This record gives sequence, structure tokens and C-alpha cells, in this order.
Amino acid sequence: MKIVLISSRLQAFGGLCEHLERGDRGRVVTRQEGGIQDLRLAADHDQPDVILVECSNLDSGSLSVVERVTDQYPRMAIILIGGQQDPEFLIQAMRVGIREVLVAGASRETVEAAVSRVETKLGLRIRQRSGQVIAFVSSKGGSGATFLATNLAHQLGSGGKKVLLIDLNLQFGEAILTIHDQAQSSDIAAIARNIGRLDASLLHASTVKVSNHFSILAAPEDPAQALQVSSEHLNAILDIAVEEYDFTVLDLNRTLDDLTIRALDRADQIYLVLQAMLPYIRNAKRVLTVFRSLGYVSEKVEVVVNRFGRGAEVGLDDLRASLGPNRIRTVPNGFRDVADAINQGQPLAAIAPSGVVSKAISDWAQALLPKPEPISGGLLSRLLKF
Ligand SMILES: Nc1ncnc2c1ncn2[C@@H]1O[C@H](COP(=O)(O)OP(=O)(O)OP(=O)(O)O)[C@@H](O)[C@H]1O
Ligand SMILES: [Mg+2]
Repeated sequence: MKIVLISSRLQAFGGLCEHLERGDRGRVVTRQEGGIQDLRLAADHDQPDVILVECSNLDSGSLSVVERVTDQYPRMAIILIGGQQDPEFLIQAMRVGIREVLVAGASRETVEAAVSRVETKLGLRIRQRSGQVIAFVSSKGGSGATFLATNLAHQLGSGGKKVLLIDLNLQFGEAILTIHDQAQSSDIAAIARNIGRLDASLLHASTVKVSNHFSILAAPEDPAQALQVSSEHLNAILDIAVEEYDFTVLDLNRTLDDLTIRALDRADQIYLVLQAMLPYIRNAKRVLTVFRSLGYVSEKVEVVVNRFGRGAEVGLDDLRASLGPNRIRTVPNGFRDVADAINQGQPLAAIAPSGVVSKAISDWAQALLPKPEPISGGLLSRLLKF
């Protein structure tokens, strides 16, 4: 991987460059004296995979420099070191395609983690074993993202796969309540408080078991504890989750903050849930535009039209015309069954296994589960040969 570091204080980054190049990981770091105005030069000259650039202030001049580079080289990741962490700065940075904004004086480990994420995204890093990460986002409150995420996760577990759902609605998450009737004993904030001890057993111990193969890592009961969970914590949790579980399902917050974007980055598949009504569609369009600016290809994002009926005023063709090339999946309306399942804190498949919504979620899970190997050389085939 080719990395360019641009700074007016290259000496201060000597240790970082050595750290990034350490080991046999095929990384080469080129140092360039300068600032964000030199981004274009570095991009054209070296065509690196990553540019680390020291910059504390994005004026309109620097924003247009970045935008021109990200337009021309969409796979090139630009990481800002020294940026501010206020939402306005982060949104501006995100809009022009900057991948990450790290604080001034970010530790080597933080920069290393950011570079590793780019490697993972570009497929340059080999993970030991990697389960799939599936993220759910609702285009507007009440679309049904949480209900679908929990019940799809349950069905994947019933298909024999190990599944973890992480509730990332950190302040008011209630994923567990939609599918389970027992109290939670731990949550994601408890992991954040013990991040130094995080390993597979702490992760398992912090989850609530919903069924044989399906567990939930709940959001904290106290909304104030949401602040204890950072994107770095989430990253560390996901590193373990993908090695321990076949599927990690993320129920995301709609606010596109650092943690949510990190989660979306790590997802192999994103489901954007909406209903076939104008306010949902308008928001979905906006979210899809942000996803494109984050560099997500359309295959990564599937649109899920929930509570969809044949006679809907807005049909599938209208949705396609409005939302663009992403695949569209529909889930029918089933108010009675869904309300019963949620009110009883049970999986839908346990309450109404033959209902239309259950059937749609089961088909969805089947599409994600690996197909069984055809039986060859078994007794039947041997008998048939005679
Ligand atoms: N297919 C469906 N048929 C009927 N009702 C449904 C269906 N899917 C979800 N619902 C209902 O929609 C309500 C809202 O769903 P949910 O809480 O999952 O939405 P959400 O997108 O996660 O909202 P938020 O963005 O506020 O977290 C649920 O209480 C449920 O009753
Ligand atoms: Mg929700």
C-alpha cells in the first residue's frame, strides 16, 4: 500500500512513519513537506492509496482542493490529522470525501487503525476469518429498521449461523425489547468502560442470548452512558465480532456521526429501510447521496421498502426512478402479527410463523445463508447408480 504523509512538521511524524512501515505489510510511506494545498500534487505524482495530511482548518480553498482530488481519485483515502471534532467541521470534511478526521496529536495506534481500515476496505488486508457485517439504517423514524434487523438476525440464527446484533442506537436503543422479554444484564457501554480487557470472552459475556445461536449486545439503559462509546471502541468490538460470529448485524442511529460512519464503512451490506411514502423517499434519497459521497458502491446498499402493498400509491417503478440503481427488496405489511410479536417481546417467527412478514424475512435470511452443498456419494446417489 502506498501512503503519502503531508505536513509542515515532518520531523514530528518520523516515529509514525516508521510505525506504519513496520513489519512485512507492504506499506511504503512517502513524506512530503507542505499542507493541504499540496494534496493535488501528491495525488497526481504518487497516486497513493492513502494521503495523511496535517490540517486544522478547512477554508473554502482547501475544501475545493480536496473535492477535486476525491472526484478524480475516488478510491484514494484522505485522512486529516489535526482536524476539529465539531459536527460542522466533520460534515464539511465528509461532504468533500475526506475518509477520517483524527485529532491533533492522534496516537500512532489511532493512525494505524485508520490506515488498517482503508486496507480492509480496499481488500489489501487478510482477516483471519471474517463473518459478514450487515447494517440497518432507517430513512426516517419508524421505518421498521430495528424490527427487521432483530428478526432477520433471529432467522439467520435459526438457520444455524452464529449471529450477534449490536444496538448502535446508543441513547435510546430498544432492539432487545422488540424480540426478547428478559432484562439485559450488560451492554455496549460496559465494554467501553473495560476496553483494555476486551476479548472474545468479555464480548460473549456482555451479550444477551435471545436464542440458541443469536445474541444481542444491547444499548445502555442510561442514555448518558452512550457518550462512553467511541468509534474506536466499536472498531475493537467489530474486530472480535467478525471472527466470532458468522453475521454481525448493526442497528444504526440515523445521525451520521463518526461512530455511525465507522459502522457503515465496516458493513459488507447496508440495508436502508423506508416506507413507500414521500417523506421516507425524500430522506432515503438524501441518505443515498451521502452514501455515494462516502464511496459506497450501489451493490453495497440495498433499499428495503417495508410495509409495502400491491396497491401502494408509490409503486416500485416510481421508487426505482427516484432512488437510482440500488437493489430494492420489499417486505409486506402485517400490523397485527408484528404488533403481537413486539408487545410480547418475542421473535415474529415464534408468534406468527406462517404470516406474510415472517415469510418475507425468512426468504431474506435464506438468501443470505450459504446454500447447502449438494449431497454426493451418499447412500441415495449410490443406490440410484444401480
Ligand atoms: N412489516 C411491518 N408490518 C407492520 N408493522 C411494522 C412492520 N415493520 C415494522 N412495523 C412497525 O413499525 C414500528 C416501528 O418500527 P421500528 O422501531 O423497527 O422502526 P425504526 O426504523 O427502527 O425507527 P427508529 O428510526 O425510530 O429507530 C414497529 O413498532 C412496528 O410495529
Ligand atoms: Mg430503530
